[in-house]
Amino acid sequence: MQITVIGCGYVGLVTAACFAEMGNRVACVDTSAERVEALHRGISPIFEPGIEALLQTNHAAGRLTFSSQLNPVLRNSEVVFIAVGTPSAADGSADVSQILEVAAQLGGALESPTIVVCKSTAPVGTACRVQSILDQHCQRRGVNWRHSVVSNPEFLKEGAAIDDFMRPDRIILGAEDASAERTMRRLYEPFVRNHDRILCMPRRAAEMTKYAANTFLATKISFINEVANLCESLGVDVEEVRKGIGADPRIGHHFIYAGCGYGGSCFPKDIRAMLHMAQEREMQLPILQAVEARNQAQKTWPMRMLRKLYSEGVAGKTVAIWGLAFKPGTDDIRDAPSRVLIEGLLDLGARVQAFDPIASENIAKAYPEAVARGQLRLFSDPYAVLNDADALALITEWKQFRQPDFALMARLMREPVIVDGRNQYDPAVLGTFGFRHVGVGRVPMDSPAPLLRKVV
Ligand code: UDX
Repeated sequence: MQITVIGCGYVGLVTAACFAEMGNRVACVDTSAERVEALHRGISPIFEPGIEALLQTNHAAGRLTFSSQLNPVLRNSEVVFIAVGTPSAADGSADVSQILEVAAQLGGALESPTIVVCKSTAPVGTACRVQSILDQHCQRRGVNWRHSVVSNPEFLKEGAAIDDFMRPDRIILGAEDASAERTMRRLYEPFVRNHDRILCMPRRAAEMTKYAANTFLATKISFINEVANLCESLGVDVEEVRKGIGADPRIGHHFIYAGCGYGGSCFPKDIRAMLHMAQEREMQLPILQAVEARNQAQKTWPMRMLRKLYSEGVAGKTVAIWGLAFKPGTDDIRDAPSRVLIEGLLDLGARVQAFDPIASENIAKAYPEAVARGQLRLFSDPYAVLNDADALALITEWKQFRQPDFALMARLMREPVIVDGRNQYDPAVLGTFGFRHVGVGRVPMDSPAPLLRKVV
């Protein structure tokens, strides 16, 4: 099939590369000539394991092309995907202006009936707005055919996006005409050959499905974080509770890991957008408001623990951080909990020494002044950050932090203290190396007289 994907960002490139890999001819279009030029040289503008190789091989095979010009590539395209950004506007709503702009361009440029797919996460009703824009153009041009707009949200996890696309749990198709549905089913058939995983529904339901999925996952996380807080003060280990409740298949083991909060480009943005959709209808969504509030508070957990540990204050202390990305497997620092900790420590006059396998550069760009005055130092070796550190805060659970050399760590640090924001370590094991360990919702090491209560 001949496809066009508009927007060479995260979603657009993964979509384009995976469809090309299945043998389709895919044209990627982006307004950034710089981005397109980099893609021609085989360089991916996004970090995602496996994406560069997929882009390069399909480009070399002639199935994947890149362009900054929309009109020439549209000819013969049966399906056009819109995968442009929908950032949060100041009022929390999803800003869909880029989608609507692309729709207007398509309306003026498409010469034959085409399936236009909204891939970007956008509020309920956006696909209908795209349909109206296209219909108006058809009317103005006096043609007697219509384009079909389909809503087809993505469910890609950063760091696992290619696998998620290639082996989807489900494909959601919001299609309102049978011929568009047939074509979309044909396009996705190679990805779901052995299982019937395509769910067809009205466009508005498809749009809502995406928001409900992400906000439900966020709810699970905030729920367990709330339980963890109670566990902390009751002297109960939330890790025991997690295993206990996860064994019930209705609850399940996924997304109930207590930690220092969720980040990333999706959960926070989608919650805000959903709250805004409700607000527009003069409705409240108290559960989601609480989810968001709990997460904001949870991101301050590492800082709160450090302040409790150092009742004399953290000013002048050196705090080491392991993990800056909002989760392992990505260099994305959007809404990352690490940023709340860094900002808090900088404000209070502490020194920060941080390590992340790939996100350090983005953090350096976000805090150039702190880097310039030497208050924030980024290292390329995880052990180097521990030199003379008064505490280590583990914020992102990269695999390389799972089994570190605790003896070496204890020797390097001024104070062997670990604030474990992802519950990666066994407090008993750490105790044998002389560490004080504080986990999220865990029984403090020197329980029953909990460490934290003692130093408050
Ligand atoms: C998410 C959805 O999973 C994906 O389906 C959607 O399309 C886009 O948004 P992503 O933003 O890549 O994907 O991140 P995800 O892996 O879902 O993790 C989100 C955050 O939740 C991370 O900060 C992670 O650390 C945190 N998390 C996850 C927890 O704190 N506890 C958990 O149990 C699981």
